[in-house]
Amino acid sequence: MKEQLKEITEKTLEKIKGVSSHEGLNDIRVGVLGKKGELTGLLQNMKNVPADERPEIGRIVNEARETIEEAIKKADEVISEKTLNEKIKNEKTDVTLPASKKAYGHRHPNRVVLEEVEKIFIGMGYEVVHGPEVELDYYNFEALNIPANHPAKDEQDTFYVNEKVVLRTQTSPVQVRQMERGKIPIRMIAPGRVFRADEVDATHSPCFHQVEGMVIDENITFADLKGTLESFAKRIFGEDTKTKFRPHHFPFTEPSAEMDVTCFKCKGKGCRVCKGEGWIEILGCGMIHPLVLERCDVDTKKYSGFAFGIGLERLALLKYEIDDMRLLYENDIRFLKQF
Ligand code: DAH
Repeated sequence: MKEQLKEITEKTLEKIKGVSSHEGLNDIRVGVLGKKGELTGLLQNMKNVPADERPEIGRIVNEARETIEEAIKKADEVISEKTLNEKIKNEKTDVTLPASKKAYGHRHPNRVVLEEVEKIFIGMGYEVVHGPEVELDYYNFEALNIPANHPAKDEQDTFYVNEKVVLRTQTSPVQVRQMERGKIPIRMIAPGRVFRADEVDATHSPCFHQVEGMVIDENITFADLKGTLESFAKRIFGEDTKTKFRPHHFPFTEPSAEMDVTCFKCKGKGCRVCKGEGWIEILGCGMIHPLVLERCDVDTKKYSGFAFGIGLERLALLKYEIDDMRLLYENDIRFLKQF
């Protein structure tokens, strides 16, 4: 048995010398030391060894195992080093080559327009505030004078999280949250994402952006609303822009209106951008409904206010003459780079 052990050890050491890959070494390890390996097999014969010789044979077996393991470990290291050296040799960097071109990102047209809108309102003393996208039904509807069963609830196909929680369908709930903070006067805009269960097409998306605006102070009248929104329109579409307020209905304002601007492309003559109308609708607005103010504990004898809601995508599409809203959501850098 001692002879056999010696033979196995020498044969294995010889084999190790001839191997040049990690896989090859592993094969040897398994073939000798593995469950069905030669050395392991030999150990199973221990029962045939006379009892007094067993300790010595045991020692020799252990030595053989250690010798072989050690040799495999060394060979493994040599192979690793060789592979690394070869890799380093082959991966030379030619520092004289021109640098590869870096691709830069680009600001999204929505963001460019939003920054412009924010700048205009901040210039008029407004504060930019934010509200939650996952909103209570109470803030999104009820507090805004849209009770259960109100038809406006159908108009805005709502994503419900549960009976009381929705993905906000508009940024108007931020008005309520701001009023509840109890500090008046208020001059705020609240930009953000809104959600509606709409099919995607050239003018609709289940997720888009609005900018809400609200002013509450003493003696605020419809004239303030008109003056503010007119000067906003001129800033964003050009000084020669004219505005027109058409009566409309929103549950949370009274009276309510939609504001049209003269088409910045044809200056009101009628063209493709304004669909021949000469006018383009850009926002909804109105004097905040007394019921909404009262629900938020605003003293309606002392204070009044106006509010407005702007569709951000609509502004971006108009301003940049983009005719398909879907382009805004694909984030193709070749598209974004144009703005
Ligand atoms: N929330 C309205 C919508 O999504 C837009 C709007 C209209 C907001 C009039 C207002 C407003 O604050 O006064 O259609």
